[in-house]
Amino acid sequence: MNRHLLSVEDLTSDDALHILDTAHELSRITDGAIRKLPTLRGRTVVNLFFEDSTRTRLSFEAAAKRLSADVISFSAKGSSVSKGESLKDTAQTLEAMGAELIIIRHGSSGAAARLANSGWVGAHVINAGDGTHEHPTQALLDAYTIRSHFDKRGGNLSGIHVGIVGDILHSRVARSNALLLTKLGASVTVVAPPTLMPIGVESWPVNVSFNFDEVLPQLDAVMMLRIQSERMDESYFPSEREYSRMYGLGSNRMKLLKSGSIIMHPGPMNRGLEIASAAADDDKSVILEQVQNGVLVRMAVLYLTMGGPQLISEGVTP
Ligand code: CP
Repeated sequence: MNRHLLSVEDLTSDDALHILDTAHELSRITDGAIRKLPTLRGRTVVNLFFEDSTRTRLSFEAAAKRLSADVISFSAKGSSVSKGESLKDTAQTLEAMGAELIIIRHGSSGAAARLANSGWVGAHVINAGDGTHEHPTQALLDAYTIRSHFDKRGGNLSGIHVGIVGDILHSRVARSNALLLTKLGASVTVVAPPTLMPIGVESWPVNVSFNFDEVLPQLDAVMMLRIQSERMDESYFPSEREYSRMYGLGSNRMKLLKSGSIIMHPGPMNRGLEIASAAADDDKSVILEQVQNGVLVRMAVLYLTMGGPQLISEGVTP
């Protein structure tokens, strides 16, 4: 395992399966009386968030604490970033306070790689979402969730068809999932209106469709994406009502779902726009399982990035 996790592109399928298997092992160990492991005792992890987050920031914090690490949380809002402090100076300040691993979310694509490769800090770096580029731990927790439903034996995802539906253009989740799920053997179809399909999508390892109703009955997992209004500086569809009618998952469209299929959403959801409450709260929805699995997968990523087996040889076990 690399000392950083910046992009799904850096992972081989064996690396990814190793992370999923480690998360599964951690779930087995922490399912009973033992909730907290001593694995990262004495290590300091920093959450460095320049963009808002609920799930990613809190689940990394929960994951680090379950491994007994000390956690420092930084939000750009209310910090000296508002006085003009740079990423370099901010990261070096946090490293001076003992940060050995930095989990960074930033609005600029490439920010995590810049931090890891600039030589500014010696800490491990994990990308928690960089602009519209990647969100690798989201893709890993999504793969873990899909595998837990369709392959109880813990293999790869061959034979599973996943649809990623909605605002593909602005979505780092879509890019990371398209890369990871296909790497693990799944077949992926991205579905969106032409205005929300990225230029160059033909080079992605996916099928492309503009017709949700045609694709939906074939899908084992339907991953609905948030409309990212905050990244939109123009109009990408005629109206919210029209978008919902064509690309939303509501009660009418639920009738087209294949038996045994699951409904996913990385959150936060725009209920009533890309997904209706009838779908989000249906028995087929695994949205809260995704959140739960996020803690396990992030525990595995922290453990493996910071040394994995080396930690065991130092006397701590996962
Ligand atoms: N899925 C996700 O990244 O959610 P947050 O923005 O709440 O972290």
